[in-house]
Amino acid sequence: MSKLDELRGKKAEIARGGGEKRTETQHAQNKLTARERMDILFDADSFVEIDVFVSHRCHNFDMAGKRAPGDGVVTGYGTVDGRLVYAYAQDFTVLGGSLGEYHAEKIVKVQNMARKTGAPIVGLNDSGGARIQEGVNALSGYGKIFYNNTISSGVIPQISVIMGPCAGGAVYSPAITDFIFMVAGTGQMFITGPQVIKTVTNEDITAEELGGAVTHNATSGVAHFMGANDRETLLAVRELLGYLPSNNRETAPVCATGDDPNRLIPELGDIVPENPNRAYDMYKIITRLADDGKLYDVAPHYAKNIITCFIRLNGATVGVVANQPKFAAGCLDINASDKAARFVRRCDAFNIPLLTLADVPGFLPGVRQETGGIIRHGAKLLYAYCEATVPKVTVILRKAYGGAYIAMCSKELGADMVLAWPSAQIAVMGAEGAANIVFKDEIKAAADPAGKRREKIAEYEARFNNPYRAAEMGYVEDIIDPQTTRARVTGAFDMLKSKRESLPAKKHGNIPL
Ligand code: HXC
Repeated sequence: MSKLDELRGKKAEIARGGGEKRTETQHAQNKLTARERMDILFDADSFVEIDVFVSHRCHNFDMAGKRAPGDGVVTGYGTVDGRLVYAYAQDFTVLGGSLGEYHAEKIVKVQNMARKTGAPIVGLNDSGGARIQEGVNALSGYGKIFYNNTISSGVIPQISVIMGPCAGGAVYSPAITDFIFMVAGTGQMFITGPQVIKTVTNEDITAEELGGAVTHNATSGVAHFMGANDRETLLAVRELLGYLPSNNRETAPVCATGDDPNRLIPELGDIVPENPNRAYDMYKIITRLADDGKLYDVAPHYAKNIITCFIRLNGATVGVVANQPKFAAGCLDINASDKAARFVRRCDAFNIPLLTLADVPGFLPGVRQETGGIIRHGAKLLYAYCEATVPKVTVILRKAYGGAYIAMCSKELGADMVLAWPSAQIAVMGAEGAANIVFKDEIKAAADPAGKRREKIAEYEARFNNPYRAAEMGYVEDIIDPQTTRARVTGAFDMLKSKRESLPAKKHGNIPL
């Protein structure tokens, strides 16, 4: 056998991973293998695998004689739409994708390469967790990965995809990254599984209910995206990468769409009902504003009262934060504050301008909100907006009441341009509530209290429930015809392209967590 044949033979053997039987089991579970996943994630024939020959050096228990091709993880780099991206994919067919010392070293190596070259990294997780036979060496491996995740945070985009089990402390690598995708039905994340929970707390729950894609997308907010299967999920990762820059020193790629930035949208104003108590679907506004009507929704199943998504305006990525009046009247609550604050920070870290669309009745009142820490969580949103130095444009569509007016990227929080529609109502609270408090005595003393109340509500509305007071004071730069919103917003971002703002030198701020 020639040396070249030997090389080819060795590589082919490693590429078979845990072998045919285990690959069949993987496929039977509706899961692709690590290399099949890489082929979907990367542009055709662009993936370059490294550390192919690395294997474990563990002699504990029966490990000395155990084969572990690639030590259970495939690592390397390639291109996504022509741009450099690094990735690792745990191979469940090899020792259950469990993480041993050299498995971890391989991941750490691509993490370092990604950071040094300023390119995103995608982790495909499918693993039984810390390799039990390797003991503390496996734990140390996780620690090194978490450290790298943290040091790379805000430098390069880090994306995690949960495509199988992800249990124990292993969940914390994805948790530190910027975006988490989960495959429905196969991806699971939990610190302790159903059996341990049964033993400790006597609670009965299935693994899927505890840590499946639906649970983490809709209830816990741990994950941000859910795909129907491996292929769909990986294609969604590719699409997300298209909205992001490669690192914090670059801006996101501009994809000319041909959609006229000055396109008028005659129906835009009609979508928002005049009656502030009537709901509407904010997605209808966003899709009309966006290039080609396209948006990439982030965490769409969580805290539906706020929308966080990427769109393109004149080809450039813009991060949108918008109240959704269709759910809980679009109020700000604990979960909405967390979701929006995290999104604002992602955008700021990666030089993505922020568009805020405000129609917000206030922070949600209630004992559960107060005792649950709405003060602490709401503060995150204020903090994130204040700290963000990217171009910030706000459009007030209708309600902007009280503290929530301030929180939705008001002038005071550093908005570079605040525009309002004529339907905007910028006030401490709604007219009804305000009249009941301010004119309480007058209403009570009147011969016709109901009539008096109506009169006082109308008086308050005339004075405050419009954008003109705020515009007179310069809190709003302009009141615009709704149909010109796309043109005005795109124009504002164009004007702000060269914005440079830096914060006072400090080690880091102390965001209320
Ligand atoms: C070593 C492991 C392993 C592990 C699985 N395998 N997990 N080997 N260390 N952690 C091996 C199995 O022995 C088996 O080998 C092969 O992988 C496939 O596993 P199966 O059990 O046959 O697969 P399945 O039935 O699909 O079950 C998958 C599973 C189960 C649910 C993940 O394997 C499991 O419960 N594993 C242990 C999970 C766990 O408790 N991990 C530790 C978490 S704590 P053979 O040769 O028999 O086919 C942790 C701490 C991290 O990770 C701390 C970081 C700070």
